Amino acid sequence: MTLNDSYWQGNYCVEISPVPNIIIIFGASGDLTARKLMPALFNLYRRKLFHDKSRIVGCARTAMKTEEFRNRLRDKMSKDVEDPAELDEFLSKVCYMHGGYQDQATYSNLQHLLEKLEKDQSPVPNRTFYLATPASLYEEIVPMLGRQGLTEECYAGEPWRHVVLEKPFGHDLKSAEMLDMLLHETLSERQIYRIDHYLGKETVQNIMMLRFANVIFEPVWNNRYIDNVQITVAEDIGIENRAGYYEKAGLLRDMFQNHMLEMLSLVAMEMPSTFEANAVRDEKLKLINSIRPFPIDQLSKYMIRGQYTASDDKKAYRDEDGVRADSTTETFVGAKVMIDNWRWHGVPFYMRSGKRLGRKVSEIAIQFKTVPYSIFQPISARDMQPDILVLTVQPDEGMSLGIQAKQPGPKLCMGNLTMDFKYNSILGNESHDAYERLLLDAMLGDQTLFIRSDVIAASWRLLTPVLEAWDGFDANNLDCPCHLRNYSAGSWGPKDADSIPKHDGFKWRKL
Ligand code: BG6
Repeated sequence: MTLNDSYWQGNYCVEISPVPNIIIIFGASGDLTARKLMPALFNLYRRKLFHDKSRIVGCARTAMKTEEFRNRLRDKMSKDVEDPAELDEFLSKVCYMHGGYQDQATYSNLQHLLEKLEKDQSPVPNRTFYLATPASLYEEIVPMLGRQGLTEECYAGEPWRHVVLEKPFGHDLKSAEMLDMLLHETLSERQIYRIDHYLGKETVQNIMMLRFANVIFEPVWNNRYIDNVQITVAEDIGIENRAGYYEKAGLLRDMFQNHMLEMLSLVAMEMPSTFEANAVRDEKLKLINSIRPFPIDQLSKYMIRGQYTASDDKKAYRDEDGVRADSTTETFVGAKVMIDNWRWHGVPFYMRSGKRLGRKVSEIAIQFKTVPYSIFQPISARDMQPDILVLTVQPDEGMSLGIQAKQPGPKLCMGNLTMDFKYNSILGNESHDAYERLLLDAMLGDQTLFIRSDVIAASWRLLTPVLEAWDGFDANNLDCPCHLRNYSAGSWGPKDADSIPKHDGFKWRKL
């Protein structure tokens, strides 16, 4: 990695020494493994962040030999790899076993395999179980692992046995609590790594550094100086081939309960006492608990849901394969979130996310208040644009600051000047996928970027009343304030969603 010195002076890096791990991936024949997990592990290997003694065991129901599994991975990964020999070296550390997830023999075979791989190793490697399976299988796999003694740790907790889980963690408060109870029958919270891949994204990780490693932001990071905050996660894609999952989830569960609320908490939480996992997660919890419950009797002032209809060559959501013709699943949510604490009292956080919107863009925009009075008459304070700090999460990770400035020349002309910084201007093509960071942290036993059970429960506690209200209303009834609004695929969401910021005299940002 080459960093341009004119940007970075005085780098302080926390040195990382990888530790031996055996990573056992359940669901290894699936898409997530080939598309995300293996490329991320390979990149860690290239960067010398994968311990020499670490190994990967793929486990799935599909019967195949290790050689076939490696060949499949080679076929999928080689197009993005510069050095095929390096990929082969990496793949030599991968093996495969098959078996049914409900079959105890699978777990005893796994145990034999692990014992073989761990034999004579000192120190004994840690085990990181990664469940890249549908969430419905967690309830089968985790107890079976426990029954076989595979997740047992000795008293000191080392070598550790960690289990990494992908969302969804339940579909409402009750189911999340049930899942949690079940996981805790086998595992302690210290062993559970719940992934939110947004937390591995560069700009999302940078939020804490920006806020807590500089003095210039903290004095203005409050309701005295900030007018509103807008968090957008817009996607141009539809639901791809995920109708089975998406029909039951919808946008509020798929994006809001996790990625959006995690970003909100990083922007709005107080400074943790240390940069240690539980200290950070304590602050996130406090923040989510400070969000004002959505007033169900006036829900449409606070939250609008929508579903995309056909436009040009793009299908309507209801015409996607596997979607019911009368589906009322939302593919867009626009919301106003209020935080009841001293720092944020009165500052609206407008949040929107949708499928099949104009383009893919995720950003957090902090809009400051305008000056109370202008000495640059006749330019009045009202003529001036508010200062705005935008943290772009994707596609061009970076940040920009828009301020008022004098335009060069003899006349007094004021304009909005944008200072722009993009990560790829210094990193070139050297991109880091979010999974790299998250897998590395899981292998190092650092839970900071993983979600704790009480934070999940708090987010479901906030959103479950909304989901229940939506379920109780007829989504197609136009007289109902909660009805599902249509928007054309490729647009920026339902027109009615504009009323949310408009009500307070604001507008959604143009993207
Ligand atoms: C996933 C959602 O968590 O995030 C998907 O399940 C969504 O529906 C995806 O498309 C978006 O991730 P990214 O990194 O492409 O913004």
